[in-house]
Parts: sequence; C-alpha cells; structure tokens
Amino acid sequence: MSTFRTCNEIRIEDIGTQINVRGFVSKTRNLGSMIFIDLRDRSGILQLVIGPEHLEYELAKTIRNEFVISISGIVVERQSKNPKLATGDIEITIIDFNIISQAKTTPLIIAEQTDALEEVRLKYRYLDLRRPNMQSRLILRHQVNKIIHAFLDNEAFIEVETPILSKSTPEGARDYLVPSRVQKGEFYALPQSPQLYKMLLMLSGLEKYYQIVRCFRDEDLRVDRQPEFTQLDIEQAFASEEDMYALIENLLARIFKKTKNIDIKQPFPKMQYETAMNTYGSDKPDTRFDMTLIDVTASTRDADFSVFALAEHVKFIAVPNGAKLSRKEIDALTEYVKIYQAKGLAWLKYQNNTLEGPIAKFFSEEEKHVFIQSSQADDGALLLFVADSLDITNKALGQLRIHLARKLELIPADSYNFLWVIDWPLFEYDADDERFVAAHHPFTAPKEGTEYMLKSEREQMLARAYDIVLNGYEIGGGSVRIHDPKTQKAMFEAIGMSENTINEQFGFLLEAYSYGAPTHAGIALGIDRLMMILTGTDSITDVIAFPKTLSARDLMMQSPSAVSAEQLSELAVSSLKEK
Ligand code: AMO
Ligand code: AMP
Repeated sequence: MSTFRTCNEIRIEDIGTQINVRGFVSKTRNLGSMIFIDLRDRSGILQLVIGPEHLEYELAKTIRNEFVISISGIVVERQSKNPKLATGDIEITIIDFNIISQAKTTPLIIAEQTDALEEVRLKYRYLDLRRPNMQSRLILRHQVNKIIHAFLDNEAFIEVETPILSKSTPEGARDYLVPSRVQKGEFYALPQSPQLYKMLLMLSGLEKYYQIVRCFRDEDLRVDRQPEFTQLDIEQAFASEEDMYALIENLLARIFKKTKNIDIKQPFPKMQYETAMNTYGSDKPDTRFDMTLIDVTASTRDADFSVFALAEHVKFIAVPNGAKLSRKEIDALTEYVKIYQAKGLAWLKYQNNTLEGPIAKFFSEEEKHVFIQSSQADDGALLLFVADSLDITNKALGQLRIHLARKLELIPADSYNFLWVIDWPLFEYDADDERFVAAHHPFTAPKEGTEYMLKSEREQMLARAYDIVLNGYEIGGGSVRIHDPKTQKAMFEAIGMSENTINEQFGFLLEAYSYGAPTHAGIALGIDRLMMILTGTDSITDVIAFPKTLSARDLMMQSPSAVSAEQLSELAVSSLKEK
C-alpha cells in the first residue's frame, strides 16, 4: 500500500519526488489546455494540474467541487507562485488519479466565510464542518482538552466518570428526564452537572477529581447557552478558595500561552459581587472598557427634575464621544433600556464645557459639576441616566454599557480580562415561590462563622462562592462546600424544604457526611464558552460539532422526534404528541 502525504506538508524541497495525496476538490479551473484542481484536506490546500496529454484527461474534466479524489503525481515548481498559500511555491503534475466519490452541488459553499443561513449550516452540518475555519475551531478545542488533561494529571488530579442516567433533585434548572422501562412510571434525570457525585468522591477519599463532562439543562437558550454543554468539572479535598484560584489561574494561563502565545497576568483581579453590580450593572463585568455606572442619587435629591428627585436611585454612564449620536439614535437607546424595564433614558451632552439637552435646565451648576466630576467625562461625552429601583437601574445601564461599547467599538481587540467575582449572596429571594433559593447551589458553604444566620438573616448571608469571568462572559463558577451534616440540613431548611423532602431527596447525602468528611471545594469551567472566546466567535454553536438551535432542535438529525406507540407503552408514557 502506498503512503499518503497531507496536502499542506508538500514544499519546494519535495520538487521532483512522486507523492500520493487524497481529499476533497475545493476548486477546479479548466483553462482548455490545462485543468487546475485545488485539493483540500484537513491540513490545507494543494494545487494539482493535469494536461491534455494525459490518457484520462476527458475523465478529469468531469471532476467537480467536493468530489473526493486520490492522486499520485510529481511535485514541480510553480510558474506563478501564490504567496498566500503555504504550498504556493509548488504544484503536483498528476500521473494517476482515482475518483473515490462524486458530489452534487452543495447547498452551502465550502469556504472560510459563508453567507449561508444558520438553518442551512445546521441542517447540513457535515458540510459546514468541511469549512477550514470550523475545522480549526474543533482542532483548537482538541488541543485545549489535551492541555487540560496534561495539566491536571501533573497536579495529581484523576479523571472519574460519573453517571449520565442520574436523579432528578429539586433546585437548579429544569431537568431532561428519561423514563425507565424496568421501573415503570419512574424517571432518571440527565445530570445538570456532576455536583453531588464529585462531592461524594471527596467523601470516598479520592482527594482530587476532574472530568471533562457533558451537562444537560432544559433552560431558555441563548448565543452562549446550549441544552447540552461541556464542563471541566473539578473538586478537591481540603481546598480553600485560594487553592482554587491558583489552580484555575495556572491552568488558564497555560491554555492561553500554549494556544495563543499570550502571557496572562496573575493573580487575576477580584471584585465583590456588590461592586460588580453597582459599578458595572452585571455579575459578569466586562472590564475591557470603562463607562462605569455612577450613582448620583444623593446629589439629585433636590433637583427640579421630579423624575430624578423622586426616584429610588439615579445612575448614569458617560459615553466617550457619544455627543455625536443623533436624536434618533438616542431614541433607539431609550427603546433598548425599556427591554430591561427602565421607564426612560434621560440624557445630557457635554460639549464646549457645558452640559446641554432638554433636561439641562433642571439642574444647578453645582449638580452639573457633580455629573462631570464624578464621571471624569471628557468633552464630547454623552451622559445617559436611568432613574428607578436599584435592580432596574443597574441592569438597564449595565446592558446599555455593553450595547454602546459594541456599537461605538470601544472594546480593544485581543485583550483578555479575567476577573474573579467573589462574596456572592448565599440566597436569592424567589418572589413567585415566596421563598429563598440558593444563589449558587444548596451545597455552597456560608462565610465562616455565619451559620447561625441560616434561620433568621438569610438575605444578609454571603457565600464562599466564586465565578470566573472573562471579557464579560461567565466562564466558570464554584464554591467551598458545606461538609457537616448539621449545616447542610439547616441549609435545606433555609430554602424551605420540609423534613420529609430533605430525607427523601438528600437523606443519602446527610448520611454520607456522617461517616467522616474532608472539607472540599470545587469549580466547573464552561468549556464551550471558553472556546468561544479563544476562537473569537460570538456564537456557542461555532465551537460545538453538532449543536442545537435556540429552540433545542437538531436540524440535521431532526431531533427531538416522535417515537412509536410501542416504545411509549413499553415505557408506560401515555401522552402522544398530536400530529
Ligand atoms: P454552573 O451552573 O455555574 O456551576 O456551571 C459552570 C459553568 O458552566 C457553563 N454553563 C453553560 N455553558 C453553556 N450552556 C449552558 N447552558 C451552560 N450552563 C452553564 C458556564 C458556567 O460558569 N456544579 C457547579 C460548579 C461547582 O459548584 O463546582 C456548576 O455547574 O460557563
Ligand atoms: P418626561 O418628563 O417623561 O418627558 O421625560 C423627560 C426625559 O426623561 C425623557 O428623555 C425620558 O426618556 C426621561 N425619563 C423618563 N423617565 C425616566 C426614568 N425613570 N429614568 C431616566 N430617564 C427617564
């Protein structure tokens, strides 16, 4: 059997040698006297040439784009070199060729850039994945996985696989359920994360666990959210917050160095959750640009503008060079903040050292001075105000800040701003359910010495939780865990679980903690989101080989799909979709 070379490895040094290559036809040009073929494999492009003297020249004329061919030929120097191609100095004069497979015209063009609709790309995903930039993303993902395995192995972590057929437990997102045939009427749940398993592995004395693992959550999907996604899941016995910070920072620094040759500055900055919300209007601040939220509630209390004077909170952002925005553009921004429940968007333009605009007349010189002073606004800035509850003010201005940074191109290219968000609240209040829920998950430890507050002062409690944020994306999160059964039980009670539910759902966990439990902490990184940032795409579907649409469909396989009545009856599942 002859050996085959890859397209991209043939160079000028190979001139005169005979080689074998195979792959897809990327392009053909029939110049009458000569046919040029661009052959494509995973490595790159190689130009082939065949002339009319060839016995099978007529057959060669039938070769079209995306045919799969195998050839044998001689490497020759090109007359007109192509500096854009790694193989641009040479071409292959075909001696022998074999058409392995013919191809119809593809529904999308196989090229770096495509204007094909998302639906077409997903329906013909195998064709979309022929595009070199899609392949390079998957290849980079493979490299990142390899770095992770090597790094954690070196740190004495061991990979343990945990079940996919798992158990539905309260809290968290909605589960994907799997009916059991053997235990009729009962269901497994696909894991939202291996959280309980990894904690139990610490009780088993495994000390350092990791897993690159698929997780499943039936939640509303977004550009950075898929129903099944991949975590790098980690748990470590006796670990503190500091241990986790150091481990993840070293790992991320290694990944960025090896894949992008970028030196990431360590230690990563830390920001309290409250500061993040008040200053950036987000629990995952993008710190690549400023435009922070400025609170002027106190200094506008006595303003003649009742919208401000009567509001719970008044905050603004100063948009550099924003004064050039037209009335129409500002109106559009007003509509934008209304998505986030803001009632309006007041504005002032800072031009020629004065604040101008329809509401300027309501403010004293002193009040205007505070606006400029507190924001350090430069001439040409646009000040945008929201007056509302703290939540709405923060959220609306936080989103507006990102929206404007993108629109006005204020985000520096190729910068990677890592940030730990710390000091999270332990609980959130769920107004619909009229109860407290765990802000992270109910296994997260409260700050040391505050356990006594679990009964009475829940809204003030802080968690030993941390999120890792990169360029405004939450790429991971974790916490130090509760390890004693008494606190764990008090935590379940604090989120409104009855004694019965606790025993039914988590009895095994409380029992497990009674047989000796190391303290432990862990984290999970969202690999898909990390890959989005590493590959510079803003859609999570670009880094997953076979993703789902925003309505959780696989357009290629057509799943989910109906199943037969026999299958359903075997599973004792009664409801059939009306067709
Ligand atoms: P958490 O729920 O914060 O923590 O998830 C960890 C990280 O996983 C990523 N992620 C997602 N990525 C894509 N699509 C989704 N639907 C999706 N949901 C989450 C995010 C997130 O930061 N067991 C805990 C971790 C722990 O406490 O150790 C957990 O799952 O990047
Ligand atoms: P009005 O007095 O309602 O005509 O509003 C005057 C300006 O204040 C308009 O630009 C409104 O968009 C803006 N505005 C109204 N309500 C608010 C609010 N709650 N926060 C910020 N600006 C507001």
